[in-house]
Amino acid sequence: MRTPVAIVGAGPAGLLLSHLLDLAGVESVVVETRSREYVEARIRAGILEQSTVDLLRETGLGDRLDREGDEHRGIYLQWPEERHHLDFVDLVGRSVTVYGQTEVTKDLGKARAAAGQQIHYEVTGTAVHDIETDRPYVTFTDADGVQQRLDADAVVGCDGSFGPCRTAIPDAAKQTWERTYPYSWLGVLADVAPSTDELIYAWHPDGFAMHSMRSATVSRLYLQVPNGTDIGTWSDERIWEALATRLGHGQDGWTLTPGPITDKSVLPMRSFVQQPMRHGRLFLAGDAAHIVPPTGAKGLNLAVADVALLAPALAALVRDKDFTLADAYSGTALRRVWRCTHFSWWMTTMLHRSDDPFDRQLQLSQLQWLARSEAGRAGLAENYAGLPIGF
Ligand code: DHB
Repeated sequence: MRTPVAIVGAGPAGLLLSHLLDLAGVESVVVETRSREYVEARIRAGILEQSTVDLLRETGLGDRLDREGDEHRGIYLQWPEERHHLDFVDLVGRSVTVYGQTEVTKDLGKARAAAGQQIHYEVTGTAVHDIETDRPYVTFTDADGVQQRLDADAVVGCDGSFGPCRTAIPDAAKQTWERTYPYSWLGVLADVAPSTDELIYAWHPDGFAMHSMRSATVSRLYLQVPNGTDIGTWSDERIWEALATRLGHGQDGWTLTPGPITDKSVLPMRSFVQQPMRHGRLFLAGDAAHIVPPTGAKGLNLAVADVALLAPALAALVRDKDFTLADAYSGTALRRVWRCTHFSWWMTTMLHRSDDPFDRQLQLSQLQWLARSEAGRAGLAENYAGLPIGF
C-alpha cells in the first residue's frame, strides 16, 4: 500500500490529523492496535480549551459538541474554610467547555468513517522503517493476520507513550525529561447530578480532591491516593466519605450528593517530554511526544494543538515538497508543550498533599496569592483556558 501520510494510532490525535489532512486534500492511512470500540470507550479528561473548541467547530466537528458540551466560565479553587471562584472570562476573555475526550473520539470516529477513511484496527507488530530517508514505511500485521507494508512520504506517531514511534527515534538524536510524582488519582464516574456549577479543585490535608462532571446527570470525581493503591481497598462508601471531607461538605451550606459509581480506576501521574518531535520523515504528536499529569486537563488539548500545526506542515510537504512548516514544527510545538508541562506540574504540586511541611506552607502561600492577586488569577486563567494555537 502507498499513502502520502501514514498515521500510527487512532486516538484523538491520529483521527483529528486524518480529518485535517482530508480537509486539505491529503489522503492518509491510520493503523491502530486496539479495536474502535476500545478506543472510543477509554475514559479520559473532559475539559476542552477555547482553541480546541474553535478548531473542532471550524472543521465541522462541532454539532454534538454545541448541543451537549457545557461552556464554563471558570473554576473554584479551595482549601479548608475558603473557596474562591476564578472567572476566566472576566480575567482573560476565554472560557472552557466540559465535553469528554471519549465524546470527541466518538465524533471523530463517526466523521472519519463517513469520509471513508482507511483505518486498520486491531493490528499487531507495528514498526516504522527508513525514517531518515525520503521513503519511510510502516509494517504491521492486520486483523486478518496478513502482513502489510505501508509506504509513505511521512509517518506520524500518534501512538501514545507505549507505541513504537517514540522509540524509533535513535537515542543519539533525542533528549528526554521525566518527572514522576509520589501520588496517583483515584477517578470515579457517578450517575448523579454534579453538586457544583463549576469544577472544584480542592487542597486538603488528607490529599487533593476534584469535582468535575460530564453532563447534567453524570459527575466525575478524583481523589489523591498513594502510588500502588489497590482499588479494592476503596469501597464506594469510603470514596464518597473522603470526597465529602476533602471537598468541604457542610461548609457554608454546600453539600455533596453521592450517587451510584459506574466506573473506578487508579491513574498514575507523570510528566515526560521527548524532543525533537520530528526525526527525518517521522513526526510525533500528542502523548507519543509528551505526557502531562492530569491536573489542569492539558493532555488532549496539547494533542489537538500538535496536529493543528502538523496538518498544514504535512500538506505543504506532500503536495509542494515545501519543508518550511515541517522544519518549524518541533520548535513551535515544543514552546506550547513546555508551557503546558510547567502549568500541569505547577497545578499538581500546588494542590497535592506533600509530606514535607515546608512544601505545605508554600502551597498555601500560592493559594493565598491566587485568592488575593488578580494578576495571579489571570496567569492561571490564561494557561487553563489555553493559549492560542501557535503560541
Ligand atoms: C477533568 C480532569 C482533569 O484533570 C481536570 O483538571 C479537570 C477535569 C475531568 O476528567 O473532568
